[in-house]
This record gives sequence, C-alpha cells and structure tokens, in this order.
Amino acid sequence: MMKKETMRIKSTKRIALDTVEMVLENNYMSQTAVPGQFLHLLVSGHTLRRPISIADVNKTEHTITILFKMLGSGTHDLASYQVGMTIDALGPSGNGFQLHNDNQSTILLIGGGIGVPPLYYLGKTLAQLDMHIISVLGFQTSKSVFYEEKFRALGETYIVTDDGSYGDQGFVTDVLHSVESFDRYYSCGPVPMLQAVTASLKDKPGYISLEERMGCGVGACFACVIPTDDAGGYKKICKDGPVFDAQEVSL
Ligand code: FES
Repeated sequence: MMKKETMRIKSTKRIALDTVEMVLENNYMSQTAVPGQFLHLLVSGHTLRRPISIADVNKTEHTITILFKMLGSGTHDLASYQVGMTIDALGPSGNGFQLHNDNQSTILLIGGGIGVPPLYYLGKTLAQLDMHIISVLGFQTSKSVFYEEKFRALGETYIVTDDGSYGDQGFVTDVLHSVESFDRYYSCGPVPMLQAVTASLKDKPGYISLEERMGCGVGACFACVIPTDDAGGYKKICKDGPVFDAQEVSL
C-alpha cells in the first residue's frame, strides 16, 4: 500500500554523466517495495512530485536506491541534496513486474538509459529465484554507462552505445539477434526504443515499463494516459502501470 513517508539520504554520488545514485533510508518503503515500482518524491520548491524508479532495495539495511538523470530543475535540485537531509516520498507507487515462478527459465532484460535502473532490482530478484539473466543495455556514450559490473554479476551482459564509444555501436535492438534463446523479456527505456523492442520481439512474451512524466501520480489528473486499443481505450501509467504486458498497450 502506498504511503507518505520521510526518507533520509544515506549516500549520494554521481555515477555517470549527469546521473546520480542516491540511497534513501526508510523502513516501510524498503520492506514493501517490489521490482518495477517507483517513488514519487517532493523536491523542495517544486509543486509537482517527481516519479523516480526504484533501482535496488536492501531490506536488511532498510534502504532503497534510486538513480536519476539531471534533466530539469527538479532533478538538478534533488541532486544538490546532501547526506542526512530528508525527502518527502509517496510510495511504493505503481504496479511492479510480474515475476512468474518458472525457475531455471532464461530472462532477457533490455534497458535504455535511465530505463536501466528498475531492471537491476528486477534482475537481482529474478536471479534469487534461480532464473538465468541476460542483459542488453543501451546508453548514449561511454560517459553515460552505469551499473555494468552489477549486471555482469547477474549474467551475460551486452552494452551498446549510440556513438560506439563503448561496447557495440548502435541500438539495443541491433544486438538482440546475439541472444540465442530466452523465455521472457522485460524492457524499460524511451518510447522509440520500446517500440523497436516490442516490434522485433512480437512473438515473445514480455513486459515493458513506461517512463512518462507524471503529474499527480495517483490516477487523478490524466497526465499520463496511454492508448490500449484503436477503440479509445486507455490506461494510466501511474496507476495501471508503469509496467504493462508488451501486448497490452499501443506505443
Ligand atoms: Fe495523474 Fe497519472 S499522473 S493520472
């Protein structure tokens, strides 16, 4: 159940170009969050909360790790927060990834840019359930790459960059053919990437997490609607998602 809680910053650091990793302490959030959910953070001086996906959880240390890119004034201001400061958070928000209980199955994680973080907590959780993890992660340049070693610790990992400055050059879809076989995929990233991924894997079962700018974050403002069919059906990313079955929504 989503609650309003105060979270204390345990650590904060830049881990890639304009990318901040922040570890937040809170007992309720850390004990209840599941992979794919997000926190809706109120940054001082801003009226709209910022939805930021959960990158990792440590239930023993009562912490949640978030990663965010400094793209606008809200995330720039959040990046200036120091260790020991507190943040007002709503969460854990949204519906997480369907995990399934088919241990020994092979799972393909496909992430692009700031869509990579939620796949880490997901991959870690699936690996603990004895699933085999293969990751394909796309970034803009070598300076944008993060969490490569963490994903390699889960399994085979391919890195691609738009400009070829690290890993293979191209897009995540360019290396999907290198993955021989898998049972299910999970993907998170920009909409054009998700369109390309769902088109090239249309015969495979999969889930996508949609990262859209949200307003209220609780289903009241319609700022985040996405069509589900040609007959005018829609879903709200903040409330019905952010995770959807890949066949369920029209991108
Ligand atoms: Fe308001 Fe989704 S953000 S309905």
